Amino acid sequence: MKVTVFVTLCVALVMGIVRADDRCPQNDDPEEPPVLLPHPTDCDKFLHCSHGNAVVSKCPPGLHWNDSSKQCDYPALAHCVPGVTPTTQNFQVSPNCPDEYDPDHMVYVPHETNCGKYYICDPYGVELEQTCPSGLHWNPVVNYCDFPELAQCEEQ
Ligand SMILES: *[C@@H]1O[C@H](CO)[C@@H](O)[C@H](O)[C@H]1NC(C)=O
Repeated sequence: MKVTVFVTLCVALVMGIVRADDRCPQNDDPEEPPVLLPHPTDCDKFLHCSHGNAVVSKCPPGLHWNDSSKQCDYPALAHCVPGVTPTTQNFQVSPNCPDEYDPDHMVYVPHETNCGKYYICDPYGVELEQTCPSGLHWNPVVNYCDFPELAQCEEQ
């Protein structure tokens, strides 16, 4: 156990992901649930406090940090916008999104200028920007990230 903790700490230190954080209590209280904080820039990461340091953790693939429920959540529910601290973001309802949210019929909106990006409409009618895996373009006909030849998106 000691060895595991030590190795984990070393890996974390090497990657530079352990930082002193004022929001973290100096001493962990084993009686209390761990203190969890949103990551300042990445939606799929969060911070957990360990001895006054904020340690970066990653959500399972495809999930985003929901700071209201303090857990990894579906991106549509987590309302996270990369680069913006999730809790301080103001959201604008988009005219491209339907009034009624139906999780079985997600609505996707192509990006105005970038073929490699698209939006999903979240339950509140807000467009959340998403990025296709590298080299793929958003294909609005089939609603997924596709090979550029098939997506036929014209970069503006
Ligand atoms: C976070 O999770 C809670 C509880 O599951 C949910 O009600 C809420 O809509 C989610 N998103 C935000 C931005 O709070």
